[in-house]
Amino acid sequence: MCGIVGYIGDGNATEIIIDGLKKLEYRGYDSSGIAVYEDHKILVEKVKGRIANLEEKIKDKKFTSHVGIGHTRWATHGAPSDVNSHPHSNMDNSIAVVHNGIIENYIELKEWLIKNHNIVFRSETDTEVIAHLISVFYEDDLTDAVYKAVEKMRGAYAIGVVSANEPDKIVAVRRDAPLIAGLGDGCNFIASDIPALLKHVRKIYLIENNETVVLTKNDVKIYNADREEVKRDVFNVTWDADAAEKEGYDHFMLKEIHEQPKGISETLNRRLDEDGMIKLDGIKLSKNDLEKFNKVYIVACGTAYHAGLVGKFIIEKLAKIPVEVDVASEFRYRDPFVDENTLFIAISQSGETLDTLAALREAKSKGARILSVVNVVGSSVARESDDVFYTWAGPEIAVASTKAYTTQLVCMYLIALYMAKTKEIIEKELYDKYIEELKEIPEKLNTILNKEQDIYEMAKDLYKREQVFFIGRGPDAGVSYEGSLKLKEISYINSFAIAAGELKHGTIALIEQGTLVIALATQDKLFEKMLSNIQEVKARGAYVIGLAKENNKDIETQSDRVIYIPQCMDEVSPLLSVVPLQILAYYISKLRGCDIDKPKNLAKSVTVE
Ligand code: M6R
Repeated sequence: MCGIVGYIGDGNATEIIIDGLKKLEYRGYDSSGIAVYEDHKILVEKVKGRIANLEEKIKDKKFTSHVGIGHTRWATHGAPSDVNSHPHSNMDNSIAVVHNGIIENYIELKEWLIKNHNIVFRSETDTEVIAHLISVFYEDDLTDAVYKAVEKMRGAYAIGVVSANEPDKIVAVRRDAPLIAGLGDGCNFIASDIPALLKHVRKIYLIENNETVVLTKNDVKIYNADREEVKRDVFNVTWDADAAEKEGYDHFMLKEIHEQPKGISETLNRRLDEDGMIKLDGIKLSKNDLEKFNKVYIVACGTAYHAGLVGKFIIEKLAKIPVEVDVASEFRYRDPFVDENTLFIAISQSGETLDTLAALREAKSKGARILSVVNVVGSSVARESDDVFYTWAGPEIAVASTKAYTTQLVCMYLIALYMAKTKEIIEKELYDKYIEELKEIPEKLNTILNKEQDIYEMAKDLYKREQVFFIGRGPDAGVSYEGSLKLKEISYINSFAIAAGELKHGTIALIEQGTLVIALATQDKLFEKMLSNIQEVKARGAYVIGLAKENNKDIETQSDRVIYIPQCMDEVSPLLSVVPLQILAYYISKLRGCDIDKPKNLAKSVTVE
């Protein structure tokens, strides 16, 4: 949800900032802009559209500035347009601000600024308020003015500020939106996320909530809300810069689909010892704790929520404890039954999704134990949890989540198995069988990935459809939701998922001659029931693609086309069955000419409510 980058040093600020913004475009991409100190003034250049438009706009300007801030936007207040793009400036253009998040009381502040300071607003954004507020409070100290402005602002945000009066510094603030500072040699940076800085620095400070960071060329100082300096340990980034590059794939999404065997292996290897026992390494979940919990709440959004649906199935089955799964944006507004006997599991790839974070805080305030499943080390969700179960997917850049989902599923299986084992309610043979099955998943996934061309051929026949239904039972129902979300978010096809047995209670009315139905039938125990559901839609003219395990050839009698996955235990099939659906969505979207990695209206990290 918007990306910000700031640079101060001896290098060319414009080039460094634009390069960093390109790495953050996944966070928002409807407009972009920079503010640099040039010829004793703050110059702002901004434009609607992708960063390529900004590059085109400034290509002949020959900026040589050594300090500046930049922004790539996902619009919240005011439609994408040149004037609503960031940075925003005060009236005499001496101060410029970039902002990620929302200022909730901006209308009240705007009225106050107009009434008391005769401010003339140029844009429809909440951000512009910040620039004017800082300006109103500015005497001779930018940091002081920023503090005073922030005191008046409510909401969740990160901001970066530069001023023509103090061109030797950048001031930035974090409140509930991600912000890091990069520590270079004779140069320093701010950014919303690590990939923006990887080309230049490996040492970073993770800025905490309500902290202000002041960067000069040779120094980075962090202050708390009381303006006291705080010391922060340096966080060393160990992952490879290449991990955030496309490496020859046409899109990050395809690269990330192919990285799933590796991500799953990594996630397993980090948690399994040589004997297949699950290591919690620092996570505190004793037998006493587990016996105390009378309920598990899994809360997440989007794809992570879909991982939670499978999590419910497997935790209830193995650990014999009731599990509720909720979308984070609903959870906190409905007085959920959560107390100190609740284990609250937050799932989030980014660890910055505001809805998930807010739900986590709500559960924490009611005494629940917080265990999070997160991909980004040091993210807000990770930092605010009692314990973190990391997914080792590596950086996920495409807006459409793929490898995060399958590694989240792995964590769900491991958590369920750990609980069952610790509570001594699973037979050793069954436990070992699960671990064996999980270890075999990466190899089985490779056989699915080798069928990519077949799925592409199928996509050629399907990409013009305008409506698709996904159906399944048990864990397949959960995967249907994920397959459907994947397709709709990148291809814009109207796609809908429903538990197969629920079709007949209304939705079947929409099935007509030629309607495309993707039927997941990977559960041996439910296979015949699924065949009946397929017959029901076939009888109404549906064109059916069946998805089944390779031994269940009967699917061919009921389906127009079939996708097979390798044999596996019913319970772990979601780890396999989702992958052909990801590939199908990818190619359908590609054939429709969509912008796969940056679908319209979306952003990778949703840091607004
Ligand atoms: O970073 P998170 O896992 O918390 O993100 C949650 C959702 O916003 C995310 O999964 C979203 O649904 C993706 N676009 C799905 O592909």
